[in-house]
Amino acid sequence: MYVRLVDVIESLSFSRSFHVVNGRHPTVEVGLLSSGRSFTPNTVSLDPDSQLHIITGPNMAGKSTLLRQTALIAILAQAGSFVPADCAEVGIVDRLFSRVGAKDDLFRDRSTFMVEMLETADILKKATPNSLVSKSTFSSFSAKHNSTS
Ligand SMILES: Nc1ncnc2c1ncn2[C@@H]1O[C@H](COP(=O)(O)OP(=O)(O)O)[C@@H](O)[C@H]1O
Ligand SMILES: [Mg+2]
Repeated sequence: MYVRLVDVIESLSFSRSFHVVNGRHPTVEVGLLSSGRSFTPNTVSLDPDSQLHIITGPNMAGKSTLLRQTALIAILAQAGSFVPADCAEVGIVDRLFSRVGAKDDLFRDRSTFMVEMLETADILKKATPNSLVSKSTFSSFSAKHNSTS
């Protein structure tokens, strides 16, 4: 089921709310369906009193998929599209920062951790109170304290 949004279309306000009930990642869902499996819906609720969420869970728990799903639903919402969820209320996001996975830039002397630090610094400089940031764990943090997104 895809739903039309309540907030982003009807009230052009920066409400800073992000409530998605039983959201799904559309392409992961289709991929699973093609092999007879189903996507377990995720519910995400961010509001001005609860803006920072830390997701923990074992490897393969679906943390990165949830981050991607959240960023994707935010983009669809800003474009006025239907979104893959039972119910969604999404305020206007002025910027979206999404970083999932790890990369390095060894030809420019930048390790994986260095790239992560530079990108995080860039996000912190550019993000406003109306921005949405979905960021996976730092690689070196992950090594010690497994699986935090
Ligand atoms: N909500 C979900 N329902 C069903 N399968 C899922 C869901 N989220 C992820 N998966 C499956 O689990 C795999 C691992 O998900 P991933 O998000 O990479 O986990 P993590 O980041 O916690 O290690 C994905 O490749 C996908 O096939
Ligand atoms: Mg992951």
